[in-house]
Amino acid sequence: MDIKLKKQNIEIFKVLKKKNADCKASDLAKELNIDYIVLMSAINDLMEVNLGSFKEDEIFQLSLNEEGLSYLKNGLPERKLLNILLKRNIREIEIYELLKSAKLQESSIFYIGISNMKKNRWIAQSKATGESKIFLVKDKFPETELEIFLKKFEKNDIINYSDLSKKELTQYNILNKRKLINKTKRTQRIIFLTEKGKAIKLSEIEELKQISKITSEMLSSGTWKDYKLKPFDVTKPGPLLKAGKLHPMVNLINEIREIFISLGFTEIRGPIVESAFFNFDALFQPQDHPARELHDTFYLNNPKIAKLPEKERVKAVKETHENGGDSGSLGWGYKWDVNIAKKTLLRTHTTATTIRRLAEYHRNNDIPPIKVFSIDRVFRNEKLDKSHLAEFTQIEGIVIGERVTLCDLIGVIKEFYNKIGFEKVITRPGFFPYTEPSMEIAVYYDKLGEWLEMGGSGIFRPEVTYPWGIKNPTRVLAWGLGLERLAMLKYEREDIRDLYINPIKWLRQESY
Ligand code: PHE
Repeated sequence: MDIKLKKQNIEIFKVLKKKNADCKASDLAKELNIDYIVLMSAINDLMEVNLGSFKEDEIFQLSLNEEGLSYLKNGLPERKLLNILLKRNIREIEIYELLKSAKLQESSIFYIGISNMKKNRWIAQSKATGESKIFLVKDKFPETELEIFLKKFEKNDIINYSDLSKKELTQYNILNKRKLINKTKRTQRIIFLTEKGKAIKLSEIEELKQISKITSEMLSSGTWKDYKLKPFDVTKPGPLLKAGKLHPMVNLINEIREIFISLGFTEIRGPIVESAFFNFDALFQPQDHPARELHDTFYLNNPKIAKLPEKERVKAVKETHENGGDSGSLGWGYKWDVNIAKKTLLRTHTTATTIRRLAEYHRNNDIPPIKVFSIDRVFRNEKLDKSHLAEFTQIEGIVIGERVTLCDLIGVIKEFYNKIGFEKVITRPGFFPYTEPSMEIAVYYDKLGEWLEMGGSGIFRPEVTYPWGIKNPTRVLAWGLGLERLAMLKYEREDIRDLYINPIKWLRQESY
C-alpha cells in the first residue's frame, strides 16, 4: 500500500466512487456540507496521488433582474391589464380609459402590456370599432408559455442556460428582449475520478495522518511526531485581498504634495466660497470680463455679500482698474464698482487662494522668497461629459522672489512634471488677464503620441502685485494646473467622471 490520504479525503473519495459519475464541485460541497475551498483542496490532494481531478467549464447562468422579479411576484403587465378587464367584466374599452383606470406606475409599462396582450391574441383592435378601442377575443386565458417559464424562477433564482429546452429557449429570448433577465458567465468546476481512481479498491488506501499546523498540545504531548506536516506550496498566489486602501486620487494628491514640499514649498488653502474681489478683481480682470458671467461662474445667494480686505488694499485694486494706480499701467479706464467685487461665488480657480497669500504677504511684511502651493477644488458652470467636470481640482502655486524670471518658472514646472512621471514638457505662449508673459503648459503623452494641455502659468502683472506692495524687482511666478487631467493620464482613464464615480473594479486594481 503506497497511497495515503487524509481521513477527510478518504471520505470524499468514497462519495465520488459511490456516485461513479462526474459531479459539479459546488453541488458536491453543498451535499457534503463542507466549504468549497476545503473540497477543492481535497481534490488537489487526490490529484497529487492521481486518483481524481477536475476540469473547468464555462457556463451561463440566468437570473431575473429587478423588473423581472417584480413581474414574477405581481404578474406580467399584460396579465395585470387582463385581470382588470375580467374583474370588471369589460370586454371592450377605449385604450385611454383603461390607461386612466389601470394606474400602472408608468405609461410605458401600460403600452408594453397592451402590445403583449395583442401578441398573446387575447385582444384585438378593429377599424370598425375605431382603432383606439380594444376588445377581448377569447373567453379563456390560460397561462402563457412565457408565464410558465417565468415561474421556473420561483423555485430557483438561478437557472443554467444549458439546461433550457428548445421551447424554454424561445421564452428566454422573449424575456431577454423585454430586458427582464440577466445572463452571466461563470466558470464551473467538474470533479471526476481518474482511471486509477476508478480502479483502485478502498482497502488499498491508507489513512494519512497529515496536519498543516502543530498545536501547543501536540508539542507538549509529543504526538506531533506521529503526523506528517503538509508542505506549503509557496508558488501559489495568495487570495485576493479586498482590503480598504487609499483612493487613487488621494494617492496622487499626496504624491504631488510631496514633490512640492521636497522643492521647498509650503501648502496653503483658501476658502471655497470666495469673493469676486479675490477671484477676479484682484487679478485685474475687468468687471465686464466674460469669465465672470453666470454661465461660467456659480454666484451665491447665501452668503450674498463678501467681506473685503483692508480699505487701503481695496482702494489700491480699484485704482489699478481705473487708472493703473502706481503699477505704471493705464488701467482699464472704467469706473470700478465695489458692489460687484463684493459678490460671493464658488471660486473658479485657486489663483484666488494665491492672491490671498499676496495679501497676507503684505500684512506680515514677509521677506522673499516665498514658495507656496495649493491642491484644491474649483467650480465652473460646465456641462459634464467625459472630459469635463463642474467641480475639479487645481494644482496651483506661486513663487515670490527677487529677480525671479520666466526660466525659473519653466524650471519649477518641468521639475514637477518630471518627478510625477512626464519627461517631456513644453511651455508655449498663452494669455491670461493677470500674467505677462503667460505660458500654456503641455506634456507629451507617449501612449497617444500627443502633446496634452495641462494648464496655465505666467508672471503676475504689476497690476496684480503692486496693490499688495510687491514691486519690481520682486516678482511673482504663478501657475494653475489640472489635477484630473494628470490623473486620467497616470491612471489611464478615458472618462474623467470615473475618477469620482469610483468604479470598484478599477479601485481594486490600483495599487496602494
Ligand atoms: N487660473 C488659470 C486657470 O484656471 C491658471 C493660471 C494660474 C494661469 C496662474 C496663470 C497663472 O486656468
